Amino acid sequence: MRMVDVITNKRNGKVLTEEEIKFFIQGYTNGSIPDYQAAALLMAIYYKGMTEKETAVLTQTMVDSGETIDLSPITGHKVDKHSTGGVGDKTTFIVGPLVASVGVPVAKMSGRGLGHTGGTIDKLESIEGLNIEMTKQQFIDHVNEIKLAVAGQTGNLAPADKKLYALRDVTATVDSIPLIAGSIMSKKLASGADSIVLDVKTGSGAFMKSLQDSEALAQEMVNIGNHLGRNTIAVISDMNQPLGFEVGNANEVKEAVDVLQGKDIKDLRDLSLELSSQMALLAGIFDTYEEAYESLAENLDNGKAFEVFRSFVEAQGGNVDMIDDLSKLPQAAHDITVEAEAPGYIEGIDAESIGIAAMYLGAGRATKDDQINHGVGITLNKKIGDKIESGEALVTLHSDQQNPVDSIEKVKQAFTISSEQPHVPKLIYKVVK
Ligand code: URA
Repeated sequence: MRMVDVITNKRNGKVLTEEEIKFFIQGYTNGSIPDYQAAALLMAIYYKGMTEKETAVLTQTMVDSGETIDLSPITGHKVDKHSTGGVGDKTTFIVGPLVASVGVPVAKMSGRGLGHTGGTIDKLESIEGLNIEMTKQQFIDHVNEIKLAVAGQTGNLAPADKKLYALRDVTATVDSIPLIAGSIMSKKLASGADSIVLDVKTGSGAFMKSLQDSEALAQEMVNIGNHLGRNTIAVISDMNQPLGFEVGNANEVKEAVDVLQGKDIKDLRDLSLELSSQMALLAGIFDTYEEAYESLAENLDNGKAFEVFRSFVEAQGGNVDMIDDLSKLPQAAHDITVEAEAPGYIEGIDAESIGIAAMYLGAGRATKDDQINHGVGITLNKKIGDKIESGEALVTLHSDQQNPVDSIEKVKQAFTISSEQPHVPKLIYKVVK
């Protein structure tokens, strides 16, 4: 087989055969196919798309390019959750212990953040001593004992995706639905869960800005998961503004703990309950959605979910004093308020700009070798639809610099203030099965 023929076929709109897709993925991963031919095929896929079958073969071949995690020594039906990336998204810290509290084992492999979205692992490392590197046996033992463990993703899960993603990044071929779906699902499938709940974000701060594109991506990922033997569903949720009020690392852990202790931070609590209910249903713990939702809400209010979180922190070596007394988590040296220059209603809070402003403070990485500052971040004082007076605080920046001008400027750009009461976006648009 010749790579030029595979490129020609896709360029002419043909459906690639299983052999052609395997030839491409295996050849690109082992270095026998050069970047320029791989880039040409990616661009042809970008324009001509892929059928469901082609995308499933692409995904499975990427899974087979590396290690897969065998979770069978963990008793029970393992359900994983994955978000396509958002700002202020700390649902993992709530959903993990919450579903574990009703008996669903959660064996989570998570990544670090790059760019404007934070990573679960970086946020967790705000807790002194918390260790995300463990042997496979320790990971399995933790899940069997307390039903929850979070480990850093090993470099050898779907290495084909790692190489292809780097090429897509520099060839303007990232935002192709089959390529995103294959990339995300290859890592999820290699991580070994029996069922998968996807949180597909939509809106200004998401990969997919329109609901139509978000639905298409969600459907594609659900089809791949189901086609490859994992029960998969997707919840499409809003990312037209950050989730909750806190953006950063330690302050996101703090907000998640507040919800785990029953505080009603509406969007964060509601989305966490929705994702958890879907996970518990897939695990077969409840018969109806209503039953699942009610029991899970009860475990937020009665402290059972918080107890699981506490046990998880302790089991992974974290300092639980920081969880019992949240003021012991890392804190920045200065709190700086950014004020509204005119009165009105908050019409928009561009999540991506808020994420970038937090990154400028040191909460995120501009390049993969940057160090994270766990104490810095942003607290929103208003959300879309709220009334604001001139001179009232829009946000508080938690900064180690006295005058973080770049972040202040970026935050100001993020807010749109209108004289009329705006439309408040829905939180959950749809569940795709
Ligand atoms: N996240 C991924 O892991 N892959 C993509 O292609 C896009 C987002």
